[in-house]
Amino acid sequence: MKIQIVKDYEEMSRKAANIVASQIILKSNSVIGLATGDTPKGMYKELVRLYKNEDIDFSEVKTFNLDEYYGLAKDNPQSYHYYMMENLFKHVNIKKRNINIPDGMAESIEKECERYEKKIEKAGGIDLQVLGIGRNGHIGFNEPDLKFEAKTHLVKLDEDTIKANSRFFNSIEEVPTMAISMGIKTIMHARKVVLLASGREKAEAIYKAVKGKITPEVPASVLQLHPDATFIIDQEAASKL
Ligand code: F6R
Repeated sequence: MKIQIVKDYEEMSRKAANIVASQIILKSNSVIGLATGDTPKGMYKELVRLYKNEDIDFSEVKTFNLDEYYGLAKDNPQSYHYYMMENLFKHVNIKKRNINIPDGMAESIEKECERYEKKIEKAGGIDLQVLGIGRNGHIGFNEPDLKFEAKTHLVKLDEDTIKANSRFFNSIEEVPTMAISMGIKTIMHARKVVLLASGREKAEAIYKAVKGKITPEVPASVLQLHPDATFIIDQEAASKL
C-alpha cells in the first residue's frame, strides 16, 4: 500500500477529488465505489466544483456505494441515499439508473445482497473504490470480527460505530443497529482503492491498518494485500505511524 501524508483535511479532499477526476477523465464510463460519512464530504464538494468547471463529466459514470443502514427509507435524511443526493448526485449530471446504493428497506435482505453483488459484477467490477475508516478499523461497515465477510451482507453494527454515528442523529436510540455493507472480497476486487482519513481520532486505526498484522479484527489491515491501495491521510491521522 502507498501512504501519502498531507497537511490537513482540505489537502486530503483535493487530492482525493483529483484521483477520482483523473479516473473519470481517463475512462468516462468508470465504475466508482463511494463512501459516506464526514470524511469524503470535502472530496464531494471539490468534485462538484470540478464538474461545474466542466473538468469532469458524470454522464457515463456508474457508482456503487459501500453501504446503507438497514430499515431506513431512501428519503430519510439520515440514510446514505439522502446523503449521496445532497453531497454529490443532485449537483452533477450522473444518470439515476447509474447510481447504486443497497436498499435498506428491501423485503428480502438476502436477495438484495445477492442482487447488489451481481450488479457490481455485471458492471465489470469497480475501477476505483473510495473508502473512509472507522475508529475501530472498519471499512464499509465491515466491523472487527473473527473472520473476513466476503460479499455484500447484513451487518450488526459495533457499539463504537453506533456511538460514533450518533452525531448524525437526534439521539443514540435513533441510530440503526444494522446495515447492509459490501464485503471485504468485494472491496478487495476493486482495481484501485483510495482510503481517506483525517484527524487524531483515526490515528490508532491507521496505525493498526498500516503497521499491524493482517487480521479481521482490524478490517482495514486487509488492504496491505491489495495491489493498488493508496492511503491519503492528514498529519493528525498519521501521527502514530
Ligand atoms: C461509510 C462507511 C464507513 C465510514 C467510516 C468513517 O459509507 O463506509 O466505513 O467511512 O465509518 O466515517 P467518518 O468519515 O464519518 O469518520
